[in-house]
Amino acid sequence: LKQVLFKNPNEPPMVFHWFPIIGSTITYGMDPPKFFDENRKKHGDCFTFILLGKKTTVYVGPKGNDFILNGKIRDVNAEDIYTVLTTPVFGKDVVYDCPNAKLMEQKRFMKVALTTEAFRSYVPIISDEVTSYLKRTPDFKGQSGVVNICPKMAQITIFTASHALQGKEIRDQFDEKLADLYHDLDMGFSPINFMLHWAPLPWNNRRDHAQRTVAKIYMDTIQRRRARGETAQDIMYHLMNSSYKNGTKVPDHEVAHMMIALLMAGQHSSSSTSSWIMVRLASRPDVMEALYQEQIDNLGKDLPPLKYEDLAKLPLNQAIVKETLRLHAPIHSIMRAVKSPMPVPGTKYVIPTDHVLLAAPGVSASDEQYFPQPDKWEPARWQKDHPLAPTIIRNEEIEEEEEKIDYGYGLVSKGSASPYLPFGAGRHRCIGEQFANVQLQTITAEIVRAFKFRNVDGSDKVIGTDYASLFSRPLEPANIYWERRN
Ligand code: HEM
Repeated sequence: LKQVLFKNPNEPPMVFHWFPIIGSTITYGMDPPKFFDENRKKHGDCFTFILLGKKTTVYVGPKGNDFILNGKIRDVNAEDIYTVLTTPVFGKDVVYDCPNAKLMEQKRFMKVALTTEAFRSYVPIISDEVTSYLKRTPDFKGQSGVVNICPKMAQITIFTASHALQGKEIRDQFDEKLADLYHDLDMGFSPINFMLHWAPLPWNNRRDHAQRTVAKIYMDTIQRRRARGETAQDIMYHLMNSSYKNGTKVPDHEVAHMMIALLMAGQHSSSSTSSWIMVRLASRPDVMEALYQEQIDNLGKDLPPLKYEDLAKLPLNQAIVKETLRLHAPIHSIMRAVKSPMPVPGTKYVIPTDHVLLAAPGVSASDEQYFPQPDKWEPARWQKDHPLAPTIIRNEEIEEEEEKIDYGYGLVSKGSASPYLPFGAGRHRCIGEQFANVQLQTITAEIVRAFKFRNVDGSDKVIGTDYASLFSRPLEPANIYWERRN
C-alpha cells in the first residue's frame, strides 16, 4: 500500500516488493534478463527496483543505453559503484581507484599497444597455445569423448591472453603459481563482495595476499626488463614507457596494477563467450561444418597456419562471435551512480541522486523489433540479405560515417543509441573489443579445424545461464561430445 500511496510521479514506476532491503534482489539475481523483460512489459522501458537496499533505475532500449552510457561526467559515475570490488583486486591508483581523467589516460596507454601490428603477432601465438593445449590435455586424448567445456575454455583464454598481452615470461608462470593466484584474486569479484569487500573473511584474505604477490611478480619482471634494456613491443613495455599529460612517468606499481586489470577484464568476458560459442556449435553441427568448409574454401584445403589477415577472409567465423555476444553478452548489467538529478528526455521523470542507474544492452539485443526471431542463434543473420538480418542496426559503414568523440583514449562513436552494444559505449567503453575478436575468432577457427562437436544426446538443446557471478556464463557441467577430424 505504501508503495502505491507514496509514489512520486516524477520518479519511474517501482517494481512491487514485499521486503524493504531485499526488494527484488532475489528475482533480479536469479535471472536478470527475465526480470528486465517481465518488468518492461508491466512498466515500460524505465522502472526502478530495490537491489540490496538501493533504488536501482533500469532504462532499457536504445534510448536507455544512450541515456546511461553516454551520460555526462557530472551526472553519472562508474567508480563510486565498482571501486569496492576492483580496487582490492587490481590494486591502488588505477582504473576506478583514481579520478576519471586518469583512467582515460590509462585506457589510452593500453589502447596504444593494441595495434594491427600487435594483432599480427598475436594470431600465431594464440593458434599455438590452442593447438598445444588440445594435444597435451588428457580430456582431449583419443578420437572422441565428452568434456565439460567451461573450465577448458577458461584455461585456453588465460593461456592465450597472458601469452599475447603479457609475453612469454609471464605466460610460463601460469603453469606454476600464477593460475592459483589469479583464482584467489577472482574471488574478490563475487557479487557478495559489493557488501562484504572489507570483511576479514578467508576469501578476502586470500584475495589480498594474491594481489600483493601478483603485483610483485609484475614489478620484479618490470625491473628485470628495465635492467636488460628490453624493447619488445608488448603492453607492459608500452606502459613502462608511458607518461601522463602532466609529465610524470607511470610508476611501476601502476603498471603492475594495470596488467592485473587488463587480464582480469578480458578473462571472464572472453572465457564466458568462448564457452558459449562451443556450447552453441555443439547444438548446431551444421554451422560447425559450414565453418570448416569456409576455411577450406577461403584459405585452401591444406589449411595453412592461421594469420591475422586470414580472419577477415572468414565472415561466418566472425559472425559466430557477433551472434554469440548478441545472445550471451557476459556483462548483463552496467551500473552508474547518479551525481546530479537527471531528467529523462521525453518523460516527466527525473532520476534523483539516491538512485543507481542500470543499463542492460542485452535487452535490445534480443528484442524482436531489431532482430527477427531474436531467440534464434543464427550467425548467418549478420550477412547482408539474410532473412533474419537485423532490421535497424548500425552496420560498420554507418558507424564509420558517424560523429566521433574522444574521451581521452581515442575516438569512439558518439551516439550509443544502438540496440547492439556488447562492448558498452561512451567513456567507459571497452578497449579490448578488437583483441577479444582476434582471440575468439582464432580460438574458434582452431577448434573447428580440430574437432566436430555435438550435444551428448544429439539434440539441439542449449544449456541455461549461470548468473551467480558478475559475469554470466553457461551452467556447468556444459558437456559436449567431441570427435577428432582426421
Ligand atoms: C569495458 C565488455 C573483453 C578491457 C567494458 C565494458 C563492457 C565490456 C560492456 C563497459 C563496462 C562499463 O561501461 O561499465 C567486454 C566483452 C569482452 C571484453 C564482452 C569480450 C568478449 C575485454 C578485453 C580487455 C577488456 C580482452 C582487455 C584486453 C576493458 C577495459 C574496459 C572495458 C579496460 C574499460 C572500463 C572503464 O572504462 O570503466 N568491456 N570486454 N575487455 N573492457 Fe571489456
